[in-house]
Amino acid sequence: MTDPMPTQPRYDAKVLWRQDKDHCIHPFTHFPSFEKEGALVIAEGRGAYVFDVDGRRYLDGIAGLWCVNIGHGNAEMADTLAEQARRLSFFNTFVDTTNPPAAQLAAKLADLAPAHLNRVFFDTGGSAANDSTVRTIHYYFNRLGMHAKKKLISRVDAYHGSSYLTMALTGKREDHEGFDLPEGLVDYVSCPNPYRRPAGMTIDEYCDQLVDELEAKILELGPENVAAFFAEPIMGAGGVIVPPAGYHRRTQDVCRRYGVLTVSDEVVTGFGRLGHMFASEPTFDLSPDVITSAKGITSGYVPLGASIFSDQIYEVISRSEPGRDSFNHGFTYSGHPICCAAALKNIEIIERDRICEHVREVGPYFEKRLSRLESLPLVGDVRGSHFMLCVENVANKQTKALLPEEVAIGDRISDHCEKRGLIVRPLGHLNVISPPLIMTRDEIDELVEILGASIEATADDLTREGIRID
Ligand SMILES: Cc1ncc(COP(=O)(O)O)c(C=O)c1O
Repeated sequence: MTDPMPTQPRYDAKVLWRQDKDHCIHPFTHFPSFEKEGALVIAEGRGAYVFDVDGRRYLDGIAGLWCVNIGHGNAEMADTLAEQARRLSFFNTFVDTTNPPAAQLAAKLADLAPAHLNRVFFDTGGSAANDSTVRTIHYYFNRLGMHAKKKLISRVDAYHGSSYLTMALTGKREDHEGFDLPEGLVDYVSCPNPYRRPAGMTIDEYCDQLVDELEAKILELGPENVAAFFAEPIMGAGGVIVPPAGYHRRTQDVCRRYGVLTVSDEVVTGFGRLGHMFASEPTFDLSPDVITSAKGITSGYVPLGASIFSDQIYEVISRSEPGRDSFNHGFTYSGHPICCAAALKNIEIIERDRICEHVREVGPYFEKRLSRLESLPLVGDVRGSHFMLCVENVANKQTKALLPEEVAIGDRISDHCEKRGLIVRPLGHLNVISPPLIMTRDEIDELVEILGASIEATADDLTREGIRID
């Protein structure tokens, strides 16, 4: 049994809804529907569940936003935040001061990351981590006298953040719409999506094609101009894309051949989502020059990001050079003591409660359970790994043709889920599932049953409306 609403609601639901609607600009907002419906006010959370302001309970199928890995309302974590706030709420980490949680966390991350990644720069979130990484990589090549090495290669449908710089790394063209980007900095190669590979091509041939494409792109731009290749081990917001086996290792080999650094964006995949603290090495045989992290690093209790650099990069950026030995990059809140204390507690909980082991054990069950939805109308593909999963909805299962955008299929299914007490994330024609990592088999069953019923209800709606699905 799960708790009922953990505390008595203390809000006026209507007033809150109105205040938000009248004054809050939400991230990634579709204004017409927001103006009409406003936002669901989530007021509390416990374990794998959240409660809206009226006390209705929902299974949290997205862990807040890929991040509440240890679950909601963890009392130990709350105590840690309060204790650290009382002890030292803030002091800067510029040059000659640090604080105990920042020092301890840097050492812990160096311990958890692949052996050659030992130098941690603290950021305020995932975009900032990738932003810092780009600046630092440019600084590194400048110091080596390789001033032309500036270009970055990313992938269509990748998501690396929403700052001015990282939105350029983000390869979701629809997210660029109407905004400006820094010119000429980023080039893109294909999204490695096996479900949408060319007809008649085997996965191995597809992988060869993707690797060749990256090499061709580096040669086209000139290796002397290319600084780094950014990649999420499994693309998250781009549609939970698991690349073909060997893809990461082989793209890394190509990068090495041409002196291009590799950045593994583990903002989503880190801290247990795929069953390891960092997925790059154990799951993908990757040995990147930088790992970036955020979200699950604190289980979302407070904002924090980290860029973990190789010894080789550190050696160059920290080298003393006459008149040029100051690294002028950083944020007020780099190494914030409360955020670092939260990350330390989070890691302690993940290790002590064997959460990675739980994900490795229950993840295959989750994948299998969800894959049964493939027999339902609308469902073209069920994919992902462990606690990072996705359902792709199509109009025609044979041709994989999509429904018209205005049908808003992902939203419709999510709305049905919400009515039945489950939150999943609509992303265009997809529904993404990335729940807290403490989710039990029973809760997984509940999630899959509600999602299945919601897909069926949506298919019925479409049939009633005369929208064809095959
Ligand atoms: C892979 C990846 N990188 C970076 C980011 C940006 O993180 P933030 O929103 O904390 O800036 C995200 C956010 O979803 C992400 O999924």
